[in-house]
Amino acid sequence: MRILITAGPTREYLDDVRYISNASSGRMGYALAQAALDAGHEVILVSGPVSLEPPPGATVCRVETTEQMRAACLKWFPQCDGVIAAAAVCDYKPRERIAGKISKTGGPISIEMIETDDVLAELGNSKGRRWVVGFALEAANPRENALQKLRAKNCDLVVLNGPEAIGSEENCVELIDSSGHPLARWEGSKRSIARRLIEWIDGHFTPQVNSGR
Ligand code: CTP
Repeated sequence: MRILITAGPTREYLDDVRYISNASSGRMGYALAQAALDAGHEVILVSGPVSLEPPPGATVCRVETTEQMRAACLKWFPQCDGVIAAAAVCDYKPRERIAGKISKTGGPISIEMIETDDVLAELGNSKGRRWVVGFALEAANPRENALQKLRAKNCDLVVLNGPEAIGSEENCVELIDSSGHPLARWEGSKRSIARRLIEWIDGHFTPQVNSGR
């Protein structure tokens, strides 16, 4: 299959030198890219800024902002069989990006933030026969919230994890489908979880766009 994978954080700029972002390392998405390649798949890796080397063999599309991630995903998704959205996308961006550099005022300042586009929801809503796997990072009511995200973003599967996953080498995940019940629970290195998730995908989803593998 040809699999689209999103990874890493996005950045949203306040001015030309400052941005807000998050501490995502990109490890989960990059491990998934490696595991998918190892299993014989083709990988399109849409990656926010991270310090990792992409796995050789992946087609890499480097992006910075959520808007750039959205554009890259919308371009590639129609040619893919499915998507795994492991990116930690910034949910908010400043209403406007100031040209140059915001100067100090001597007092507090406020910055109005608006929601970014939901990349995964857009892919889910245009998926046709393609399969869609999202991640859900939950601190409270994890299963309930994961199921809500699965529905809202039209996913076939959600990989539920917690805030401790951000920036870590390890992870602990549950797979949630539309029943809302956990199908599996895996704990260990992100590489081992990535291998198991790709195996799971191979066993449950079939090629939809690219025949053959
Ligand atoms: N996601 C996305 N675009 C966004 C926000 C999230 O594509 N603007 C994707 C993530 O890559 C992930 C899934 O949606 O696969 C869920 O992300 P998560 O951060 O858990 O949830 P949010 O939808 O951002 O909601 P909240 O922060 O309120 O929990």
